[in-house]
Amino acid sequence: MLNSVETIDKIFDLITDNSAGYNSLSSFRAINLFFEPSTRTHYSFKIAEQNLGMKQISFTPESSSIQKGESFYDTVKVFENFGVDVLVIRHSDNEYFQKLKHKIHIPIINAGAGTKSHPTQTLLDLYTIKQEFGSFKDLTVGIIGDVLHSRVANSSIKIMQELGMKIVISGPPEFIQNKENFVPFPDILKICNVIIMLRIQHERHKDKFDIEDYNSKYGLNSKNIKIMKPNTIIMHPGPYNRGVEITDEIIESKHSRIFTQFKNGVIVRMATIRFVLQENISIFDL
Ligand code: CP
Repeated sequence: MLNSVETIDKIFDLITDNSAGYNSLSSFRAINLFFEPSTRTHYSFKIAEQNLGMKQISFTPESSSIQKGESFYDTVKVFENFGVDVLVIRHSDNEYFQKLKHKIHIPIINAGAGTKSHPTQTLLDLYTIKQEFGSFKDLTVGIIGDVLHSRVANSSIKIMQELGMKIVISGPPEFIQNKENFVPFPDILKICNVIIMLRIQHERHKDKFDIEDYNSKYGLNSKNIKIMKPNTIIMHPGPYNRGVEITDEIIESKHSRIFTQFKNGVIVRMATIRFVLQENISIFDL
């Protein structure tokens, strides 16, 4: 079995050779089972599947038999038996794939699990960083904001460290559980090559989080980005709270690679689908 770094290398090799992938999976069928809202991940998977020539089945939980009490596992089992070749699943349960392990016998791609993992976002972020800097070694990556509720941070930190990057984090104290790599804001901006801003995830908070003054304390704006190194890039997995963790002008600034991330989402997901089918991966995670 491949480890995370070997998996990333293989997927990046497939991206280099992405032209070979166009329409190469026309005999395959995919279904995207999104039990949580999504724009970037859901629709970039759809476009990736279209680019690969795959047949797609659409699914909306609101009009499915889940409304009659059918379980998550029973729903997935239906699609396995319909002859679908790849399942792409997003779910609010951190461990949803445990319910499917050894019981579903077609590849499952994790498109986001609760606050725990979002491996294809990690892949597209890594690919965006590699495009920019050529390699990962000796880069300092700052992850800033609602780290506690971020499946992006949870998925990425360990792997980025394995790839030779130094990780530093910052944000409101209530969102930083592990203070090990903490650097106060805005000082963190001075030392990073890559800054990943995270969304305040109101939907995952038990109590309402007050965002008044957030931008001046922990967000990027045209004033505080002046202390960054000149070639620092700014990323955000999206969706963003404009004027909170990031202001309008930063999203569109020359440092921003946010729109590149959206673009890379499609090619990374094309390569991931090819990878899970080639390698017969049961559950894709990193
Ligand atoms: N980055 C991300 O997962 O965005 P969506 O929730 O829109 O898919």
